[in-house]
Amino acid sequence: MGIKRIQQKQLLSKIATGNGHGENSPYFDGWKAYDSDPFHSANNPNGVIQMGLAENQLSFDLVKDWILKNPEASICTPEGVNEFRGIALYQDYHGLPEFREAIAKFMESVRGNRVGFDPDRIVMSGGATGAHEMIGFCLADPGEAFPVPVPYYPGFDRDLRWRTGIELLPVACESSNGFKVTRQALEEAYEKAQKENIKVKGLLITNPSNPLGTVLDRDTLRSIVSFINDTNIHLVCDEIYAATVFGQPGFVSVAEIIAEDGVECDLDLIHIVYSLSKDLGFPGFRVGIVYSYNDDVVSCARRMSSFGLVSTQTQRLVASMLSDGAFVRRFLAESARLLAARHGAFTRGLAQVGITCLKSNAGLFMWMDLHRLLKEQSFEAEMALWRVIINEVKLNVSPGVSFHCPEPGWFRVCIANMDDHTMEVALKRIRSFVMKNKEVVVVPNKKKCWQDHSHLRLSFPAMRGGRFDDFLMSPHSPMPQSPLVQART
Ligand SMILES: Cc1ncc(COP(=O)(O)O)c(C=O)c1O
Repeated sequence: MGIKRIQQKQLLSKIATGNGHGENSPYFDGWKAYDSDPFHSANNPNGVIQMGLAENQLSFDLVKDWILKNPEASICTPEGVNEFRGIALYQDYHGLPEFREAIAKFMESVRGNRVGFDPDRIVMSGGATGAHEMIGFCLADPGEAFPVPVPYYPGFDRDLRWRTGIELLPVACESSNGFKVTRQALEEAYEKAQKENIKVKGLLITNPSNPLGTVLDRDTLRSIVSFINDTNIHLVCDEIYAATVFGQPGFVSVAEIIAEDGVECDLDLIHIVYSLSKDLGFPGFRVGIVYSYNDDVVSCARRMSSFGLVSTQTQRLVASMLSDGAFVRRFLAESARLLAARHGAFTRGLAQVGITCLKSNAGLFMWMDLHRLLKEQSFEAEMALWRVIINEVKLNVSPGVSFHCPEPGWFRVCIANMDDHTMEVALKRIRSFVMKNKEVVVVPNKKKCWQDHSHLRLSFPAMRGGRFDDFLMSPHSPMPQSPLVQART
């Protein structure tokens, strides 16, 4: 009281006050719009519908049912309370053995039991967010870089970069071939970095992709493994959407590729990031892991794990649930079925007004092609359309620019975080918006949606450091909220 707050910025570190958090992005601003006017079917039917949050809420009934049938799995029930003391006290920072075993088994089930995982290679972290920072810290020094195929999850700009000082470099992928990750694009990104004297330490891939909802095929994975082996850089594979695959082609993990006969690879270079946030739909539990084939990385990450431990209460519950093989099998089958049904319903709803999405078979979202609604093919026009969609159509979708998409007109729309009714309202709003603007919409012919985009190829904007600054908006801290939880309050 009474103390003048002058030059407050100097009181904090440069790293704390800088822009490294990567949150000055429309991706996060959309959440703010939702928070200030959240849709509720009864109390606020004209509010903003949250379609910017990749949550998997479709299979919650199965989980609820399991919890009711297994009260001893919780330490807060008469059946489990005798274990309270042991769980509440300090535990081994490596994680409860039953937890690491259950996670390893779950990872195997999700990958069709085609490959095994060693529980001793699992290091816990606070969600995949913590896992990415942890692996970045272990592998690279400030200023060193990881190329990442675009478009990519906007949170990487914070998770990998902010506290580590690591750079992310774009690997150019384009809609003309379904945003395929080609060897040529990898080499170009690598060579460009070398010319700029940037040391490349690893490649970061997301399989299945957020935001594309597509999986990497075996040949692409082999070519990626061969590329990182030839250049002697690390490969970090984010596989947190592995169990969201609901159609063919199926998911192939990098773990399967490196186990194949004839694939040459230095295993010390391979690391998987995983979490239960998407596949099980438990982002609130903050269960993330690094699975590394490199012993030194496992040891270093263990030393760091106390910064982001998963609480033992959560470990115990998760261990108990995932050790139930019958439940896991039922959950995985039912979750895939519900995701496929939601994907189909949404695709059909959009098709009624000629809107298409990139062909996909995974993820909790779709990569919607609205380039025909742009006044011109530019990122300014994409942002203008996004503002109309948020403010007038009242849908929080995320513009492609926030995923570093090199072509304007793409939007990620999340579809698994709402009930059927909310999805129908969202579809109705999109359809009526498109109908109102139909003079600018050209209903596409039968070509796949990415086949006629070659005319949209743009030269890459300078993407390192303060990339896409022209499109950034006011800084603030995001407060993601689940729409279903909001609806209940
Ligand atoms: C590709 C990707 N990696 C990591 C994360 C962060 O996941 P978590 O909630 O487990 O920290 C997300 C969240 O959306 C994501 O999409």
